[in-house]
Amino acid sequence: MQLLEVKDLHTSFFTDAGEVKAVNGVSFNLDRGKVLGIVGESGSGKSVTAYSIMQILAPTGRIVSGSIKLDGQELVGCSEKVMKKVRGNKISIIFQDPMTSLNPTYTIGHQLMEAIILHTNRSRSEAYDQALEMLRLVNVNEPQKRMKQYPFEFSGGMRQRVMIAMALACEPDILMADEPTTALDVTIQAQILELMHSLQEELGMAIIMITHDLGVVAQMCDEVVVMYAGSICEQGTAEEIYYNPCHEYTKGLLRSIPSAGSAGTRLQPISGTPIDLLNMPKGCPFAPRCKSAMRICLNERCPRMQINDAHQASCWINVKKGLEDGSIVLANTGIADERLQEGLLTHE
Ligand SMILES: Nc1ncnc2c1ncn2[C@@H]1O[C@H](COP(=O)(O)OP(=O)(O)OP(=O)(O)O)[C@@H](O)[C@H]1O
Ligand SMILES: [Mg+2]
Repeated sequence: MQLLEVKDLHTSFFTDAGEVKAVNGVSFNLDRGKVLGIVGESGSGKSVTAYSIMQILAPTGRIVSGSIKLDGQELVGCSEKVMKKVRGNKISIIFQDPMTSLNPTYTIGHQLMEAIILHTNRSRSEAYDQALEMLRLVNVNEPQKRMKQYPFEFSGGMRQRVMIAMALACEPDILMADEPTTALDVTIQAQILELMHSLQEELGMAIIMITHDLGVVAQMCDEVVVMYAGSICEQGTAEEIYYNPCHEYTKGLLRSIPSAGSAGTRLQPISGTPIDLLNMPKGCPFAPRCKSAMRICLNERCPRMQINDAHQASCWINVKKGLEDGSIVLANTGIADERLQEGLLTHE
C-alpha cells in the first residue's frame, strides 16, 4: 500500500467573482521514504494541493471531489478530530514564509517545546531535551542559548532551520515543504536543501517538496509532478523529467533554469501570462502560451499518456510524434480518427 494516494482531487474557492478551480483533477502517489517534487509557476495550485491534503484551506475553499488516502485511510470527508491527529502526527508542513508561522512574541525554545508537547506525550523537561536535540539536528549552533532567543534574533536561514525542526518535532511520516528556500539567498538555499536531504536519509520520512525551481527538484527528488493551472501536465522520475521532458510547459521551465557556467547568459522565461482560473479554456490550459500548439490543443485536452514505465505526460505533440513514427496506434488513443487527423497535423 502507498503511504499517500491522491486521486482526482478537485479543490475550488467560491468567491464573489465565481468558482476558482485551483486544483483540477490531481492524482499522485507517495511511497514511504521517497521525495516527491511538485513543480510549477506561481498560481499553478501547488500550495492549494498541499493545503487540501492537510485540510487547512481558507474558509472559501473546499475539496469538491476526489480522494486522499493516508495509509489506506480516506481523509476526504473525515472529521476534524481525525485531521487534528493527522496534522502534526503524520504529516507536517513547512510554510512558504517562516516569519508568518513563528510567533514573534515567544522564544524559539518555547515554540519548539509547545509543538513537541502538543503532538507527543512528553513532559516539559523531556520536551526541552528534545527541542535541544532538534536544534542540533538542523545544525543550529549553541542551541541552549538559541532556545532563549526570539524569532527576530534569528537570520532568515536560521528561522527556516527552526521551522524544519518544528515540523520534525512530531516525527511525521510525511514532511511537506512549501517553497522552503525561496526567501533565502542562494548559498543558504543550498545549505537548507542539503540539510533536508540528510535528515530525510537519517529519519527515513517521505517528503513532498514544493517549488517553482526544477533545479531544486533535480537535486532532491525521486519523482516529480509538474503542475500547470491546477492540473498535472507531466509526471515521472526526476531523471525522466530532467533529461526527457515530454510537455512543452516542462521544456519551458527547464529552459528557465540557470545552469552552471551560464553566468551572463539570459534565462528564457516562459512568455505569456498564466491562465485565468475563472475562465479555463476547453483545450490544453498551456496552449495559449505554447509555441508548438496545434489546432487540437486549443480544443481538447490531451489525456494522460504513458511515455514509458517511469513517465506520463498530457501533450498532443507526443501523440503526433507517436503517430508519425508508428509507436502510437490511433485505436489506442481513445480519440476518433477524423478528429485527430484533421486537428493534429496543423499548427496554429
Ligand atoms: N483563498 C483563496 N481564494 C481565492 N483563490 C485562491 C485562494 N487561495 C489560492 N487561490 C488561487 O488558487 C490558485 C492556486 O494557488 P496556489 O497558492 O496553490 O499557487 P502556488 O502554485 O502555490 O503558487 P506560488 O508559487 O505563488 O506559491 C491561484 O490562482 C490562487 O489565486
Ligand atoms: Mg504556493
